[in-house]
Amino acid sequence: PGDFSLRGRGAATVVVLGAGVAGLTAAYELGKAGYDCTLLEARAKAGGRNLTLRGGDRLTELNGPAQEVTFGEGVYFNAGPARLAPWMLAMDYCRELGIPIETFVNNNAQAYVHTNGRTVRARTARADMYGYVAELLAKATDVGALDRKLTKDDQERLLDFLRRFGDLGPKHDYEGSPRRGFVKYPALDTGTPIALPGSLREVLAAGTGRAITNDFGHEQATPMFQPVGGMDAIVTRLAEAVGQDRIRTGARVTGITTLDDGVEVTWDGGRIKADYCVATLPPHLLARIPHNLGTQITAALKTPVPAATGKIGLEYGTRWWELEDRIYGGVTETDLDITHIWYPSHDYHAERGLLVGYYNTAEHAELYGALTPEDRRHRALTQGKKIHGEKYRTGLLSSVSIAWDRQEHIQGGWVRWPAVDSSFTLLQRPSGRVYFAGDWLTHLIAWQAGSMESARSAVTQLHERVMRSS
Ligand code: PHE
Repeated sequence: PGDFSLRGRGAATVVVLGAGVAGLTAAYELGKAGYDCTLLEARAKAGGRNLTLRGGDRLTELNGPAQEVTFGEGVYFNAGPARLAPWMLAMDYCRELGIPIETFVNNNAQAYVHTNGRTVRARTARADMYGYVAELLAKATDVGALDRKLTKDDQERLLDFLRRFGDLGPKHDYEGSPRRGFVKYPALDTGTPIALPGSLREVLAAGTGRAITNDFGHEQATPMFQPVGGMDAIVTRLAEAVGQDRIRTGARVTGITTLDDGVEVTWDGGRIKADYCVATLPPHLLARIPHNLGTQITAALKTPVPAATGKIGLEYGTRWWELEDRIYGGVTETDLDITHIWYPSHDYHAERGLLVGYYNTAEHAELYGALTPEDRRHRALTQGKKIHGEKYRTGLLSSVSIAWDRQEHIQGGWVRWPAVDSSFTLLQRPSGRVYFAGDWLTHLIAWQAGSMESARSAVTQLHERVMRSS
């Protein structure tokens, strides 16, 4: 990662299809190197899935009613991407473009885990699982079950770790721990710990395993970050740097023709000829646009399968999750069809606030997507009430929900490649004068960083070709 620039000046013209994060990044980097770019964007505004909704916005959906967003001042909903990992390129662009960032609380011990109809604090679920796993392994070690695997010294080292990991007693029993949390936290007195853990069997039966390991991976590990004021700061700043006048919105591409001396692109309103084209539309939409790039390209574009994703933003008049639950940011993990509840990682103690009441994928996203906005809200509130009680329903001010597979000119949350095969690598190279870019061409699908990496790859290849031919 780090600062990127193409070496040397290129004077060519480039038409960029799509002004999402990939298209904007491509145009931004090409612009820095002297290229003359025009972006064609079918939607009413740039950004693609990087969409932040605020009061006064209107969200339309294919075959669905429009939703008017009525959030109060300062309330926003990142309907698409909402968190950045520190190693991702999106962080570099925030720095380069002067976008302030703040911590995104992805893991909060104080949030809940709701599985099999029971709600516990995340810290409790973790303490119990870690505690019992540590106890089992420590006792297995004690009875010699690991003697063929480990020397006595190594067993001592392992036991030393397990005692810490599980907060075990002297006989290597897990009998609860202050890590589980308190009904009344210690202060002048020792406080009131929450009731003792269930048995190992009960803890296993609670099925908290997925919920408490969510942030173990390299993509979700704490700390994560977000732009201050909404993820679309990335779009706004990139579009400013590219030049708004270069972005033609409401322009749906209808044809792509690669020629010996350039590319011709038609849209419903005109045609443009440029030296090169960078096509960043979702592959399933690109595949449907008439072109002369050959049947292999069409087949490759049809290979990735779009996946449904949905979210709902729930605006409340008070931040009861902060005041009553003491939850400041983070995620409650559930085995319900809402999957997660996200608490805002910004503007703590403000009057209003917005929760993400569901963020789901696949069949759960399809289920919610098929409902009207009112029914999505009703269902999300019914589910969330199981965790947070009646206030979850009564305190609601407004809501807006999105089904990404029903967003015009996008039609998917992201894609899945049945196999990363020759189609994937084929599209990472140009076809004639057409280059492809998007998160869908990387191993960072469903991350802006993927779009950015892919855009850099495409413009690097394009630029090297221009430098060779001039
Ligand atoms: N980037 C998205 C998110 O953080 C989708 C995603 C989730 C991608 C988990 C990979 C892993 O929610």
